[in-house]
Amino acid sequence: MYNFSFHNPTRILFGQGEIARIGECIPAQARILITYGGGSVVRFGVLDEVKAALGERFCLEFGGIEPNPSYETLMPAVELIRRNNIDFLLAVGGGSVIDGTKFLAAAACWIGSDPWDILLDGGATVQKALPFGAVLTLPATGSEMNCGAVISRNVTRVALPAANGANAGVSLITKSQHDKLVFSSPLVYPQFSVLDPTKSYTLPAQQTANGIVDAFVHILEQYLTFPVDAKVQDRFAEGLLLTLLEEGPRVLADPQNYDARANLMWAATMALNGLIGCGVPQDWATHMLGHEITALHGLDHAQTLAVVMPSLMQAQRDVKRQKLLQYAERIWDLHDRDDDKRIDLAISRTRDFFESLGINTRLADYGIGSEALDALVAKLDQHGRYPLGERQDITLERSRTILAAAI
Ligand code: NZQ
Ligand code: ZN
Repeated sequence: MYNFSFHNPTRILFGQGEIARIGECIPAQARILITYGGGSVVRFGVLDEVKAALGERFCLEFGGIEPNPSYETLMPAVELIRRNNIDFLLAVGGGSVIDGTKFLAAAACWIGSDPWDILLDGGATVQKALPFGAVLTLPATGSEMNCGAVISRNVTRVALPAANGANAGVSLITKSQHDKLVFSSPLVYPQFSVLDPTKSYTLPAQQTANGIVDAFVHILEQYLTFPVDAKVQDRFAEGLLLTLLEEGPRVLADPQNYDARANLMWAATMALNGLIGCGVPQDWATHMLGHEITALHGLDHAQTLAVVMPSLMQAQRDVKRQKLLQYAERIWDLHDRDDDKRIDLAISRTRDFFESLGINTRLADYGIGSEALDALVAKLDQHGRYPLGERQDITLERSRTILAAAI
């Protein structure tokens, strides 16, 4: 096992009715901005419940944070925060709202350059951020208990020298950008998160399934690498995978089953709160390739993972061999004497599981063919985040092979 330092400062309020206690976690004099998404929390009464719990505190609202939250949407909120001396943020929604709020927390305190620079250096230079809490409505990302966020930028304004003559100067043109980048900083852990499983009852089946796949792949990114004799992390990861395999189908069949929803919610949080990743190698190539697919083609985050993961397992089967065999035995109960056959079956069972949840696992299912490969690989190149993988052996060429095999 590698050395590690683990500190997760997020307080979790878990269970039905816990929204009522958020007042205990926010200073009485706080000037709060509540952030939310496209309106589900308004429609289903979660926002009203949150406002009731805040009592007489000063409170503004900023809605409209979209899935795959964008810089363009968020920047007006930075202005709102500064203008109104907001000193506490409260995210009410799924991963996109929480990630967007992390960006706001850091951007509101950012001095000097364009806050997009926070994404360009991955969060390394964030010096200060506003405190914030979260009320989770969609179990999936783990954002409610981690310090990472993923923000997209769709267009950029580029300065062009203006035509010569008396009005010489610059004019601005709008250029497509399609970037989806990650930042992380210990300053953007939520101070608290409310995990009330009943708030996930209203999710469309598609979003519930997305959450199951996202959490499943988060675990694989930290587990399916190479062994370092980290028994606690391995068995925690296996427990979470088995929980998702059991509870995923149960939740889809019975959306108002409290216990199934509760198990799913806690498993998704535990999948990416830093615990199972302590002291072990991590991969994350599936996520990095997936982010480019979302940025260029608009697939949901989990759809991209369902497409890339089986293909990556296949392409990396030699470097991941020992852990793939462990995964085959302990998760899929496969005991064939032929090692390669066990690995083949483990990969196809994984694909079948995603498909059984209603998530397609081929790029072609989303209308994407080989004509898309050049642009996807060019974006990876542009972002300079390679080679990828736990052994840093996923080069641009290998990324292309993985994407091609995913069609
Ligand atoms: O916007 P509203 O109207 O609220 O509707 C949302 C949205 O359309 C809806 N929804 C959420 N809770 C609901 C609900 N509808 C009915 N009832 C409820 N209780 O679901 C839709 C999707 O929401 P979104 O927040 O986008 O989904 P998710 O939680 O899957 O977040 C995805 C984002 O998180 C990033 C992804 O890249 C993507 O941008 N990730 C963040 C990570 C992190 N911070 O650690 C890690 C992940 O790997 C991931 O990359
Ligand atoms: Zn993810």
